[in-house]
Amino acid sequence: MKNYKRHLITAALPYANGAVHIGHLAGVYVPADIYARYLRLKGEDVKFICGSDEHGVPITIKARKLGCTPQDVVDKYHAIIKDSFQKFGISFDIYSRTSSEIHHKTAAAFFRKLYDDGKFIEKETEQYYDTEAGAFLADRYITGTCPKCGAEGAYGDQCEKCGSTLSPDELINPRSAISGSEPVKKKTKHWYLPLDQYEQWLKEWILEGHKEWKTNVYGQCKSWLDGGLQPRAVSRDLDWGIPVPVEGAEGKVLYVWFDAPIGYISNTIELLPEEWEKWWKSEDTKMVHFIGKDNIVFHCIVFPSMLKAYGDGFILPENVPANEFLNLEGEKISTSRNWAVWLHEYLEEFPGQEDVLRYVLCANAPETKDNDFTWKDFQTRNNSELVAIYGNFVNRAVVLTHKYFGGKVPTAGRLQDADKEVLAQIPLIKKQLEADLESYKFREALKEAMNLARLGNKYLTETEPWKLAKTDMERVAAILNVSLQLCANLSIAFAPFLPFSSAKLQQMLNLENPGWERFGSAHILEENHPLNPAQLLFSKVEDAAVEAQIAKLNATKKANQMQEAGSSSRQHSTSPLPGKEECTFDDFMKMDIRTATVLEAVRVPKTDKLLKLTIDTGLDIRTIVSGIAEHYSPEEMIGKQICILANLLPRKIKGIESKGMILMAKDESGRMRFITPAEAVDNGACVN
Ligand code: 2FM
Ligand code: ZN
Repeated sequence: MKNYKRHLITAALPYANGAVHIGHLAGVYVPADIYARYLRLKGEDVKFICGSDEHGVPITIKARKLGCTPQDVVDKYHAIIKDSFQKFGISFDIYSRTSSEIHHKTAAAFFRKLYDDGKFIEKETEQYYDTEAGAFLADRYITGTCPKCGAEGAYGDQCEKCGSTLSPDELINPRSAISGSEPVKKKTKHWYLPLDQYEQWLKEWILEGHKEWKTNVYGQCKSWLDGGLQPRAVSRDLDWGIPVPVEGAEGKVLYVWFDAPIGYISNTIELLPEEWEKWWKSEDTKMVHFIGKDNIVFHCIVFPSMLKAYGDGFILPENVPANEFLNLEGEKISTSRNWAVWLHEYLEEFPGQEDVLRYVLCANAPETKDNDFTWKDFQTRNNSELVAIYGNFVNRAVVLTHKYFGGKVPTAGRLQDADKEVLAQIPLIKKQLEADLESYKFREALKEAMNLARLGNKYLTETEPWKLAKTDMERVAAILNVSLQLCANLSIAFAPFLPFSSAKLQQMLNLENPGWERFGSAHILEENHPLNPAQLLFSKVEDAAVEAQIAKLNATKKANQMQEAGSSSRQHSTSPLPGKEECTFDDFMKMDIRTATVLEAVRVPKTDKLLKLTIDTGLDIRTIVSGIAEHYSPEEMIGKQICILANLLPRKIKGIESKGMILMAKDESGRMRFITPAEAVDNGACVN
């Protein structure tokens, strides 16, 4: 195996048109982070590169939907995504963004060189154009009737109803999603990368040269290459993105999939302006791209062809470990249907339990096939593995050392066979764990780390030092010494996977950042080395927490069903609820509408519709009884900022005095959603 001097690890740049969820973490960022942390612990020179992907049509669609600019959209989501990654300990060396100046410059210069070197083909084709809006329409901006299933509202690239992949020409009765008018065909010129010219080279590089790539990755590449490659357009008619740096290309931008992977380069330049070339243009660098399966063609075929076309010594990825998809409770994760566990919400709902999610997502990672995340499995893995095995072992070892030896590592003395056998397992486990990590088998690697904890737990259970304490303190000392050496080894073995827990354990063991080379040793902790007080590494996930999450998902499911029922009934009747009588400005100003936060929420017994909410209004803490129980579970309301009518006369509802009313938006299907400020503001802020 080649000895590389440095490791360039990239993780797919997530689109900044929404927050990130467990699917992102399991598919890309947890495995990439484990790999980066492992290599750093081994003392390797590592750079771990990522950032937000801020161009492309979905961002313009989101902006249109929210009534703001694309820049507003990416500013908002870039901040949320960056914060979530940082809080989950994803240890990027840089997390930048493709709207940055340096990226615009780098991507434009990259295009320009290929253009100047004659690497593109220019082609004129006919594309749909909205004459009212004066704009060419991206596939997503054209809707019509699906030719396959007859559903209305199919997009120019896909019908969401039957899942068929479509082209805009296939749509029956196509309409522009911008103006609703019928689009016309208009000629437009674009630049194409002739992938067919790289086909033979790609076949040799991947099909001959990288048979070791994961089966799913190799298989997808093979099927693309066997099918024959076609030239691909690398520009688009759009007003959001990096302008095509060529005379006469007004109104055209680089295709998002052309500029995004160049983001790996520009982010490296931003991080290391002086020495970035050594990372990208030296055969001593090992580059690995971590991605999800929908990105395979771009990272294995398109981007390498771009780099090859550019020349100038750019290296290619040594591996592209792509994962399959993670489902949630048996259904596909979907941003638009809110079927996801959002990382920023998890961080609020399970504070301090970042490692638990990292553990569950790695243990159940969709490495070879799509997998399912369930809250029940989350609870079981936490309670029966992290708490009952790893946490329990560490706790017993440290607590007993404090109890019998004043918190100092006792003398090992003469070891018995049982002790030697346990210690002999550590280097064997290390070897297997390393082999798994180096072949991107993170689930297997994590199992090995847990096996070490299992070994320790079994050893303590079988040797029962607490019973021997009355008769044989020398033996107790040996057992606890061995156990503490195991704890120290565990803190290293788990460090790439569970960085927060390893830091906590190392603090307990009074051990400062041990390197990977110490893993495997039976003498990490010296005799008499003082420990710090014991703390619990993990805590149980109670049934109530899991039930609250399941209730939240059920509420989402119900809301989706109502919305779908509503939207299909809207196809027949589109009238919203009827308007009300006019009111004067003074009428309106009589209402004292304010922001408030829900502190507590419980169902009103023996009712289906009522929740009793304890609210912080900024003026006081008060109770409001609200008829929203069919729309929100109590858990969903807790912590939410809402708007209330604060000066409504108090009244008794089911014997409870209710002071005020929660403002809700209700549509014609009867679905209700509470009103919340776009960004958090102080409680008691006046709404008018
Ligand atoms: O699929 C995605 O989320 C893309 N934004 C990934 C881009 S990866 C890279 F090429 F930038
Ligand atoms: Zn269809």
